[in-house]
Amino acid sequence: MTRQRGTARLRRSRFRFSRRDFLATGLAAVVAPSVTLVGQPRQAPRFSGPPFSLGVASGDPSPDGMVLWTRLAPVPLEGGGMPDEMVEVHWEVARDERMREIVQRGTVVAVPEQGHSVHVEVAGLDPDRWYWYRFRSGTEASRVGRTRTLPLSGTSVRRLNMAFVSCQHYETGFFTAYRHMLNDDLDVVFHLGDYIYEYEGRDGRARKHTGDEIELLRDYRNRHALYRLDPDLQAAHARFPFVVTWDDHEVDNNYAADVSEEQGLPSELFLRRRAEAYQAYFEHMPLRGVSRPTGPRMQLYRGFEYGDLAAFFVLDTRQYRTDQPCDDRSGPTCAGVLDPQATLLGEEQERWLLSGLDRSATRWNVLPQQVMMARVDRAPGSEERISMDQWSGYEAGRRRLMEFLAVRRPANPVVLTGDIHTNWVNDLQVDYARDTEPVVGTEFVGTSVTSGGDGSDVRDDTAGMLSENPWVRFFNSQRGYVRCVITPQAWTADYRVLEYVTHQGSPISTRASFVVENGRPGAQRV
Ligand SMILES: [Fe+2]
Repeated sequence: MTRQRGTARLRRSRFRFSRRDFLATGLAAVVAPSVTLVGQPRQAPRFSGPPFSLGVASGDPSPDGMVLWTRLAPVPLEGGGMPDEMVEVHWEVARDERMREIVQRGTVVAVPEQGHSVHVEVAGLDPDRWYWYRFRSGTEASRVGRTRTLPLSGTSVRRLNMAFVSCQHYETGFFTAYRHMLNDDLDVVFHLGDYIYEYEGRDGRARKHTGDEIELLRDYRNRHALYRLDPDLQAAHARFPFVVTWDDHEVDNNYAADVSEEQGLPSELFLRRRAEAYQAYFEHMPLRGVSRPTGPRMQLYRGFEYGDLAAFFVLDTRQYRTDQPCDDRSGPTCAGVLDPQATLLGEEQERWLLSGLDRSATRWNVLPQQVMMARVDRAPGSEERISMDQWSGYEAGRRRLMEFLAVRRPANPVVLTGDIHTNWVNDLQVDYARDTEPVVGTEFVGTSVTSGGDGSDVRDDTAGMLSENPWVRFFNSQRGYVRCVITPQAWTADYRVLEYVTHQGSPISTRASFVVENGRPGAQRV
């Protein structure tokens, strides 16, 4: 135990990263947090506060199990407040809400090196049904969470209910979207990134981040904890399994692989920050052990199959991308946009995606991912202004994927997108220059939970943008989430919007619904 306390002192005394520090010390290696099992775990710990303050979560389902998550954090905003020692956590899974019919239980050890986070990979359960779970440590018990296994691969599935969300800047509003979501009958929720924002606290907003811009593991932990203290977010995690992927703000705005937003920051230095951010992300998400980061690397792209109905290819467009072209400034197509070497997915992920799509036998093939895939010109008339951070900035890669959809024709491709804090429905096409281009897939872009503040139905530029880009079928700039019902015949998407987020209690309504019929790419308004 003495040795562990020594490690903690060392950790506390670490400097904040800066380029000067990097150059002064010459540290190039990224420090990977490791699990040290020394001595016996504490069986009956005393906590300085409620240890399950961050709630519970589940995710990454399989036909016989899922991940159950919690993190012991009696003092959540100050590093968790756990003693620097290992602690036993017991878990149990039941077939009923009242936890009477327990079907599995076990004990895991929460360790300081992992922020006393707990990731239980349950196996051996029945497919396609609800389960309930909870944790205990010492004399304390967590709330009961609800979760669900996947149907067996290949079996007939008649219906899947899901929602997708993204972009929940804590300061710009309340997570009312999640509160309304509790009334929906959902099998799973997909989170498409910007789960946290890295920025320093600012006055004059709905809520306030604690502290400066986050750069160190301890800061990232505290930021995740701040978000996870939100009761609506906690309730959603307890009620539905989540499948998560990240965008940029889990680390740093608009970062690309090892390139920071900050111009000229050495990649070795940025990778140290990335390693700390990835570690904190893993510690707070219901992810399997295969996603546990090694230094600045983390396996996040992965697949899920709902029987014969839908295959989900969850993408990571941040970790492997080449740097944004044209200095990441929106504008006309520059040489970098057309560079065939430029990539959003990286070679390996792209191969995984295309071979997976080629092999898939499901009715729907779904790509939950981050940045807008349809090419949208934001400038009226002959002028052109495209985003360099989205697929439009990586035209060769976008075209490869669209041509693959056109030629190999995987069944019913649907792309789910976050990032831009607005609702869109887009036709996916190989070429956007010709009016007669066939539609090869459908893109549903979901708005933010809070980012951007209250928003509005239309913006000054909406009419112009829609006439400039006829493949955009819908645009709205309110906050909320997208609720989907998937059947063998059709995919229906309800755009759920809030009147406001800067104060609590907004009602919610369905602003528009769109349907994609089996075998007919492109969504139709209903
Ligand atoms: Fe965002």
